[in-house]
Amino acid sequence: MTHSGQKVCFMTGASGLLGGEIALSVAGQGYTIFFTWNSSEEKAAQTLEKIRRISPESQMSHCDVSKPADISSAFATFREQFEQLDLLIASASNFFSTPLPDVSEQQWDSLVDTNLKGTFFTMQEAVRIMQKQPFVSRIISMTDISAELVWRNFAPYTVSKAGIQHLTRVFAKTFAPQILVNSIAPGTITIHPDKEVPVEEMMNNIPLKKLGDPLDICRAITFLLESDYITGQIITVDGGRVLQ
Ligand SMILES: NC(=O)c1ccc[n+]([C@@H]2O[C@H](COP(=O)([O-])OP(=O)(O)OC[C@H]3O[C@@H](n4cnc5c(N)ncnc54)[C@H](OP(=O)(O)O)[C@@H]3O)[C@@H](O)[C@H]2O)c1
Repeated sequence: MTHSGQKVCFMTGASGLLGGEIALSVAGQGYTIFFTWNSSEEKAAQTLEKIRRISPESQMSHCDVSKPADISSAFATFREQFEQLDLLIASASNFFSTPLPDVSEQQWDSLVDTNLKGTFFTMQEAVRIMQKQPFVSRIISMTDISAELVWRNFAPYTVSKAGIQHLTRVFAKTFAPQILVNSIAPGTITIHPDKEVPVEEMMNNIPLKKLGDPLDICRAITFLLESDYITGQIITVDGGRVLQ
């Protein structure tokens, strides 16, 4: 708990489009947020400013999650400032297309090291703190419905997200009953402004005929924060897209 009695959340990827909305929503539910950014310092600073309006003790720190030493260092900074960890949200993620058969080692490493290795070592640092606490804490990882689908041009990305789903189950079983570990698998929620995407065509492939809204993901996270009897689950929030 912080000086003002708030719960504490460590979050990676809060400088992201969806990540920023998640951080704000969690702050609104009474959490102080310690979040990391990697390349988007300005976006991170804007996000921190918004979060601090509702959760003034929140902090941010630089961390490249593809480097375990950076993760350790971010957690060391976290421990200097906070005495407990109630919630980890592991949201940092890299995403770009990698058509087969031309995937380079550098592309593979960039996607798998950020998404899978980064999530693993972030979760490992978190459980080292959470295990010693005399209360139940939570981890929420961020995967993607593509972990269940066959996207020919995104193999390293989808493999990394499938790996996160497996890690979620392993951590859930290993650290029960002290730590509840679940994952959110969004469909298409946000679209980067610099990317040209056939939105109409995408919506036609979604049974609910619309893209998701960050609020849909925030509601799923709120549900997990309020649930005491769910662990090891992947919650899909995709308007029914995996049914195709
Ligand atoms: N948005 C969607 O529609 C959607 C759909 C399916 C799944 N998801 C998943 O939901 C989560 C949140 O998505 P989003 O929209 O916020 O993603 P985003 O806008 O692409 O943001 C990615 C986030 O990850 C961080 N990141 C990237 N590489 C990093 C590295 N090496 N070290 C540390 N941080 C790094 C970025 O930080 P910097 O910018 O500071 O580098 C940023 O905060 C992700 O896990 C994503 O895969 C999202």
